[in-house]
Amino acid sequence: MKGVLLSGGTGSRLRPITHTGPKQLVPVANKPVLEYAIEDLKEAGITEIGVILGNKGRDEIQDLLGDGSKYGAEITYIVQGNPLGLAHAAGCARDFVGDDDFVMYLGDNILKSGVTDLVKSFQAGDYGAGIALQEVDDPQAFGIVNVDGEGKITELIEKPDDPPTNLALIGMYIFSPAIFDAIDNLKPSWRGELEITDAIQSLLEDGHAIDSHVVTGWWKDTGKPEDILEANRLVLEEMALTTAGVIEDGAEVNGRIELDQSSTIKSGAVVRGPVSIAENTTIKSGTYVGPYSSIGANSTLKNIHIENSVVIGDSQITADGRIVDSLLGRNANVESAAELLPEGRRLVVGENSQLKL
Ligand code: G1P
Repeated sequence: MKGVLLSGGTGSRLRPITHTGPKQLVPVANKPVLEYAIEDLKEAGITEIGVILGNKGRDEIQDLLGDGSKYGAEITYIVQGNPLGLAHAAGCARDFVGDDDFVMYLGDNILKSGVTDLVKSFQAGDYGAGIALQEVDDPQAFGIVNVDGEGKITELIEKPDDPPTNLALIGMYIFSPAIFDAIDNLKPSWRGELEITDAIQSLLEDGHAIDSHVVTGWWKDTGKPEDILEANRLVLEEMALTTAGVIEDGAEVNGRIELDQSSTIKSGAVVRGPVSIAENTTIKSGTYVGPYSSIGANSTLKNIHIENSVVIGDSQITADGRIVDSLLGRNANVESAAELLPEGRRLVVGENSQLKL
């Protein structure tokens, strides 16, 4: 069994965060989303991984993952180029996959339970594909399955207007090489993409059995800023956190804290976990870092009160104010303008930003 990790796409829903980098490298609990997928594949015993690259962030992704040896994996890079759909991306892996079965994992998805159960279930039968499902509130936004009385898949529809169920395909699939012929015969959907959902539907019509597995733990597609914050919350809630850095006398720290050994919480700062603080970061006096915050590397926080937020890194946040439910891109600085006249908020805000003042 091989792994195919999809790392293309434009990240349009995460702009401006993704103007400069790929969405799969946005950190959740100070770890790029893509690394969670690699770890899940590894845990399921899959070490030969093909990473499909789009037009964006190819160098950054290769710089991070390298040849895969730091994860105990062997990574092959495959260039998809323009994002023409998930089935197009899968089709690009044909030579890499050869005659093997493979797990296809969307690199911006993150799920609690990993892929091990899905792999075991697929291997226990004779299936053309295996799919992971979860109930969703907005089935029009997903690939949806219809099932018979015994739970057997009878139909798969991409983003239906009139969904027959609310069982959505989540970003995890297992395929036999039969999928490649199905992909070859696909026509683009209304959104101009080759849909993987349509390819699986055609496998079904050709008489292949489809294994399905309802994932019970949480799953997040980290496509939008609020999804990143929620994934961050879910991961921090469960992750084992290690405090290796310096907590000065006079700092108030409670709850679970991850503090890199090179980082410091200074006297007069208050940190309430779960919180993750990456390397070379200083939390100075007068700062409050509240639950479900991840503060990236090389940052300084002073005076600010921040909660339920992700600071990606290289940031100076020294304003005397409150930041909640926020996602701050790399090198974003938030300073106090209190001493300047006229009083008011001075903003340099990128295209497609969303501010709530
Ligand atoms: C894609 C798939 C869809 C699936 C979803 C899971 O949707 O096309 O079938 O349910 O991923 O995240 P997209 O993110 O391209 O809208």
